[in-house]
Amino acid sequence: MSSEPWIAADLYLHGLFTPEDAALTHATASSASAGLPSIAVTPSQGKWLHLQARAIGAKRILELGALGGYSTIWLARALRAGGVVVSLELEPKHAEVAQRNIHHAGLSDRVQIRVGPALESLAGLVAEGATPFDLIFIDADKPSYPDYLTWALKLSRPGTVIIADNVVRSGKVADDTCTDANVQGARRFNAMLAAEPRVGATVLQTVGEKGHDGFAFAVVER
Ligand SMILES: C[S@@+](CC[C@H](N)C(=O)[O-])C[C@H]1O[C@@H](n2cnc3c(N)ncnc32)[C@H](O)[C@@H]1O
Repeated sequence: MSSEPWIAADLYLHGLFTPEDAALTHATASSASAGLPSIAVTPSQGKWLHLQARAIGAKRILELGALGGYSTIWLARALRAGGVVVSLELEPKHAEVAQRNIHHAGLSDRVQIRVGPALESLAGLVAEGATPFDLIFIDADKPSYPDYLTWALKLSRPGTVIIADNVVRSGKVADDTCTDANVQGARRFNAMLAAEPRVGATVLQTVGEKGHDGFAFAVVER
């Protein structure tokens, strides 16, 4: 048993709800051996994202922050026939690893990775007149979260689901004196989301093998 009860519980729940999966195990192992940081969503969180996408019948998903493609694989597996995940990733090395993992998972035909700063890729999508997305998952650099919300709304329609990870930061978001740029980004994002009249939104705290954090969940209403 782990010393932290929530870690033991996470492992127990993974055993029940997200048993061994060759493509995902490969994605995690190859990301680690390529030296990528261990900051992907957990198996339970990946499946939760997958189920959110399935629940709304998502055909177009936008992801900010691919890393090694772990969450991308969960999301791509949820797509309706003919659907696509567009994933924005700053680091060419991360994008290469993600592309290989997505290929290994047999999902290359439905995932596009755009390499570069997400703010530039988002502006590009808007300039191209991209069809609004059904689900947008924000999981890139935290200081830019407020800007990502602005762009996510431009790429949404009524009914679009917007999910953002890491908006609780071990509870530090409750500290208005905290000078950490990631915490400040999450605080500004949360305040902006709460005040945004076009969405219904909440934040759920998460705890498990990757510590204490939280997901923002929003539905675009108009
Ligand atoms: C938390 S990781 C993403 C994890 C991934 N969603 C998963 O759960 O498997 C964040 C990723 O965002 C990328 N990133 C950081 N700053 C970025 C930026 N300005 N634009 C696009 N991607 C960025 C990082 O290189 C990293 O790969």
